[in-house]
Amino acid sequence: MRGIILAGGSGTRLRPLTSVHSKQLLPVYDKPMVYYPLAVLMQSGVREILIISTPAHLEIYRELLGDGHKLGISLEYAVQDEPKGLAQALIIGQEFIGDQQVCLVLGDNIFYGHRLPDMLREEAHRLDGCTLFGYPVGDPERYGVAEMDEEGNILSLEEKPLKPKSNLAVTGLYMYDNEAVRRAIALEPSARGELEITDLNRTFVDEGRARLVNLGRGSAWFDTGTHDSLLEAATFVQILEKRQGIRISCLEEVAYRMGYIDHEQLCIIGKELSGSSSYGQYVIDLARQEAAEPVSPTPRAA
Ligand code: DAU
Repeated sequence: MRGIILAGGSGTRLRPLTSVHSKQLLPVYDKPMVYYPLAVLMQSGVREILIISTPAHLEIYRELLGDGHKLGISLEYAVQDEPKGLAQALIIGQEFIGDQQVCLVLGDNIFYGHRLPDMLREEAHRLDGCTLFGYPVGDPERYGVAEMDEEGNILSLEEKPLKPKSNLAVTGLYMYDNEAVRRAIALEPSARGELEITDLNRTFVDEGRARLVNLGRGSAWFDTGTHDSLLEAATFVQILEKRQGIRISCLEEVAYRMGYIDHEQLCIIGKELSGSSSYGQYVIDLARQEAAEPVSPTPRAA
């Protein structure tokens, strides 16, 4: 399965924070926002990932993350000239996707939950059509909303409905089989001139080939689309990290625990990151701890 992180858009709702800066590089407590969706893909076993951003910002992503070899993954980059809709990511990424399945994640969505990586792997295994991930919210009218039956089949999907049929928001994490590329190409732009992801997903709903997995209790999901939700996500990360003495979505830790890099590579990265950064110190401490008490790398929520 290939992964795509969509990190473009105009970020109008967060201006002036995003007047000159890419939204998905804004800090969420101790790391750039894009680290979180990238960690989700890495933890799910996806190692070939395409990052899509605007012409103005793409090079900053490349500078930050490089070609991925330090993390034992492969990162490629592509431009979205204008924000013409989330489904356009599959068209931009069509060559990269080739004949594979694809997991698309929005660069401004933050997920946390220790069952999530296993869940994603299981869903990739049974994928037929599309699988979406829902999260119960108090304000579903702000999101795509799904209505589902007891088996998890999606009965209906609506984008920001005035009268939502359920409280299940569709999160920005989408798994598709390869057909989705062809369907994205065939989509008609919506009234606002965009290739809407909900329209693409509906083509699978109409055929009874769209599943929804309710992330529900035991997990957290933030769409950092507003100043408040951005702050809430940062506070969540801060509380969890301070309380437990861990880092969430520390890419170097994820890469090590997933077995993408070995202990020696972890030490090298730790040294490069160190100095006065507490993030770098965390990586060094992890490397020291692992040298004293090595564990066989196992996927773990990070
Ligand atoms: O976060 C989950 C929600 O994301 C879903 O519930 C909705 O169904 C889905 O349509 C989307 O809603 P948003 O209102 O959050 O979509 P927005 O247009 O704000 O775009 C989401 C992110 O994707 C945002 O960071 C900007 C980026 N983006 C957006 C468009 C339209 C792009 O990179 N390219 C684009 O063309």
